[in-house]
Amino acid sequence: MKAIVLTRDGDNPGKLQPEELPIPAIGENEVLIRVHAIDINPVDNKTLEGKGQFSNIKQDDPIILGWDASGVVEGVGSAVSQFKKGDAVFGLINFPGHGRAYAEYVAAPASQLALKPGNVDDETAVATTLSALMAYQAIREADVKQGERVLIQGVAGGVGFFALRIAKSLGAYVIGTAMAREEKFLKEQGLDEFINFQTTDFEKATHDLDFVFDTLGGESVIKAFNVLKPSGRLITIPSGVGEEWKPVAARLGINAKFLFVHSSGADMQAVAGLLEKGVIRPNIAHRFRMEDIPRIHELMSAGKIVGKIVVTFRD
Ligand SMILES: NC(=O)c1ccc[n+]([C@@H]2O[C@H](COP(=O)([O-])OP(=O)(O)OC[C@H]3O[C@@H](n4cnc5c(N)ncnc54)[C@H](OP(=O)(O)O)[C@@H]3O)[C@@H](O)[C@H]2O)c1
Repeated sequence: MKAIVLTRDGDNPGKLQPEELPIPAIGENEVLIRVHAIDINPVDNKTLEGKGQFSNIKQDDPIILGWDASGVVEGVGSAVSQFKKGDAVFGLINFPGHGRAYAEYVAAPASQLALKPGNVDDETAVATTLSALMAYQAIREADVKQGERVLIQGVAGGVGFFALRIAKSLGAYVIGTAMAREEKFLKEQGLDEFINFQTTDFEKATHDLDFVFDTLGGESVIKAFNVLKPSGRLITIPSGVGEEWKPVAARLGINAKFLFVHSSGADMQAVAGLLEKGVIRPNIAHRFRMEDIPRIHELMSAGKIVGKIVVTFRD
């Protein structure tokens, strides 16, 4: 099979290169997926730069990035009962850990997958995996309720956009920060109040929030403490951007936490249900082919590409 392998340079990541590899063997609780589409998240690029999941996977050989896959089941392990050959499935594979989805075939634990809804294609499904699961798990953890005032920092982003749709489906009043060019689209998608982060300080533009979902990290977390109600809660998700907010939250008695997305077939099936009903829909910005993957990462590292990226593997 064709795969895009990450070479190693001593203890550091090397470069991405296409290689011909054996189709992976599956364990008794795994399924073999023939991959139709993947998507690329910020964590793929962070890992390529030696951050993200690199320390977790650097001892493996070969190293293959990619955690989100949509495709068809080609084989099932002896203990797998929920899927059969020919099922269309999608999911976030082995996160945190080694996903290996930049390949024509991937072995995935059955417990991490969901059936792809019949009314969406592979590209739509795969763009609704890691970022949608992250949004789903965060909104559930925050226990967002009808009528609550919610601020989503980075609401036009991969995660923020799903969080908007899920919070709206629960009846929340949603305020979001993004660039001016996104305002019209976001309001059409249900955003109640738009804050242009390039011209407006969100601290001055909003107040009395029940929940802040922060996809930016750093200083924005500490600033958000000033606009939360005393009973408010905050979840932040970027890693490696400092934890200065932690002692401040402890001192002020604020319910703030960092949350890491994790692979879960049950949560993935819930996300599939939201996708099937049209509650959520990815905002795909770029479509590429497998051979483009090294170039996509060059564009990401140079900051020349923004928005959800999907890569189609089949003809
Ligand atoms: N903890 C976890 O398990 C987990 C899971 C998923 C993601 N993450 C992390 O969460 C972060 C967001 O992920 P993502 O996939 O949503 O990334 P993304 O698609 O790049 O979204 C980030 C969004 O924030 C916008 N933005 C940049 N600066 C802003 C500001 N000052 N105010 C408001 N919006 C701003 C960006 O706009 P432009 O594109 O126009 O600059 C973009 O729309 C990343 O750091 C990612 O690694 C963590």
